[in-house]
Amino acid sequence: MAAPREAFRWYARHRVPGQPGYAVVGMSTTAFPDGTVIELPPPAQRPPGWQFEVHVAAPGRLPHRVVVADAPGTRAPALWYVVLPVAGTASGVDLVAFSTGDRPDGDVLDAAEFGALGIGWDNQVGALRWDAATGLGDQIYVAPQARRRGVGTKIGVAAVVLAAARGWAPVRVDGRRTDLGEAWLTAMWPRSWDDLPACTSPAPPMTPATEAVGVPERNLLPDPGSGRAVARVAAATTGCAPLHAPDPRPATGRPAP
Ligand SMILES: CC(C)(COP(=O)(O)OP(=O)(O)OC[C@H]1O[C@@H](n2cnc3c(N)ncnc32)[C@H](O)[C@@H]1OP(=O)(O)O)[C@@H](O)C(=O)NCCC(=O)NCCS
Repeated sequence: MAAPREAFRWYARHRVPGQPGYAVVGMSTTAFPDGTVIELPPPAQRPPGWQFEVHVAAPGRLPHRVVVADAPGTRAPALWYVVLPVAGTASGVDLVAFSTGDRPDGDVLDAAEFGALGIGWDNQVGALRWDAATGLGDQIYVAPQARRRGVGTKIGVAAVVLAAARGWAPVRVDGRRTDLGEAWLTAMWPRSWDDLPACTSPAPPMTPATEAVGVPERNLLPDPGSGRAVARVAAATTGCAPLHAPDPRPATGRPAP
C-alpha cells in the first residue's frame, strides 16, 4: 500500500521581474515555516520533498501546467489534463486526465486546445468534477484498468493545486462517497490537510459492469479491512452516474474556467 503523501508546507515562486508569468513549486520539507513563499529566479527546481510544480501565464489565468510528484513508493503514469465547464452548472468544473503521448506530463489544455489534438474523449483515464465556487468535490472516476497506479491521487492533487493557483475555492470533500472513494480518501489524504470529513452518506458503486470485465478485483472493491465501514447501497437508489466521457460540447453562455 502506498504511504500517505505529504502535504505542501512552503513554496518557491520563480518569476522573471517585470513579466506576469510565474511557476510555483510546493515543498513538504520543514526548511521554512509553513506557508512561507520564497522568491527565486527561474527555472523552477524540484529538490527532494517537492510535491507539485504549477505554471501560470498571468495572475487569474488557468494554469497551463500542473506537474504532481509521485507519492512515496509509487510511480504514477504521465498525465495531461483538459479543464472544461460542466454543462448546465454555474461553476462546475471537470478535470479530465489523459495518459497518451500527445502532450507531456502536467500539461493543462482547454476544450479548444483539446479539440485541436483530434483525440476522442474515450481516451481519458480519469476525471474529477467539482464546484469552483464552493470547492466541493462531486465525483472522481478512474478507468478500472488504470486504477491502483496513483492516477486518482494524481488527479486529486492536480485539482487542488489548479484551483488554488487559479484563485478558486479550496477543493474539499463532504460526507458522500462510495466504498472505493472511502478506501482511497482515507489512504491518500495528507495528514496535514484539514480533517477528512467522516463518510456520512454512502453512495453506490459507480463502475458499470461493462467496464469491470477482466479487471482485477482489487481495482473494483475495497481491499479487505481498508477504509472505514460503510453501508452498501443498491446502485439503483441514487442517481450517482459515472463521470466518464463528459459532454464535450462547448459550454456557450457559461464562464470558461
Ligand atoms: C476511488 C478511485 C478514484 C481511486 O482511483 P485510483 O487511481 O485507483 O487511486 P490510487 O491509485 O491513487 O490509490 C491510492 C491509494 O488509495 C488506496 N486505494 C485505492 N483503491 C483502493 C481499494 N480498492 N482498496 C483499498 N485501498 C484502495 C490504496 O492505499 C492506494 O494505494 P495502493 O494502490 O498502493 O494500495 C477509483 O477506485 C474509482 O474510480 N472508483 C470508482 C468511482 C468511485 O467510486 N469514485 C469515488 C467517488 S466518492
